[in-house]
Amino acid sequence: MSSKPHMSLDELRDQVAACHACPLADGRTQTVFGDGNPNARVLIVGEAPGKNEDLQGVPFVGKAGQNLNKLLEIAGLKREDVFIANVLKCRPPGNRDPRPEEIQLCTPFLREQTRAINPEFIVTLGNFATKFILKTEVGITRLHGTLQTAGRFKVFPIYHPAAAIYDRSKQVALEEDFETLGRLLRQAAPSGEGDA
Ligand code: URA
Repeated sequence: MSSKPHMSLDELRDQVAACHACPLADGRTQTVFGDGNPNARVLIVGEAPGKNEDLQGVPFVGKAGQNLNKLLEIAGLKREDVFIANVLKCRPPGNRDPRPEEIQLCTPFLREQTRAINPEFIVTLGNFATKFILKTEVGITRLHGTLQTAGRFKVFPIYHPAAAIYDRSKQVALEEDFETLGRLLRQAAPSGEGDA
């Protein structure tokens, strides 16, 4: 099976930085392309940059990011092991939910990032990432912690780490799900470079 990327991550980064396809471009400090290991086994997909991410140009650097870093450790992962991206590359004003037309215009970038990285697992954080990757209307409350597939990718939906900041039961579920992710990663034979 061919897994040749159509575009390199560097080319994609330049395209994202130049994008003015929707009005979110007018309010941004900068785009937030994504960050991490370009050959990662695990691609983590969040929702959209928040204030800190918009200022620093790096995903998950605020409070949710601190939680994500702790959760990754539970799975035996470091940030350098994974690639982290978002459904939207620009911050929605006031951190409102992404709109359908923004998702439609922005997700070709995520699709190309996925092709370029060719991960074994895609971990979707929260409803927006999960619904986009799995093309489902089933909510995260039902799907979290269950192994799914999308094409050749294993998909593991998990609650968004920001949702857990004020909800202890979600944090417990997040920690359990990251433990499961660690087990799944240890069980699955590491795929060879470029293999599907
Ligand atoms: N929440 C997200 O979904 N993505 C980020 O990059 C930061 C917070």
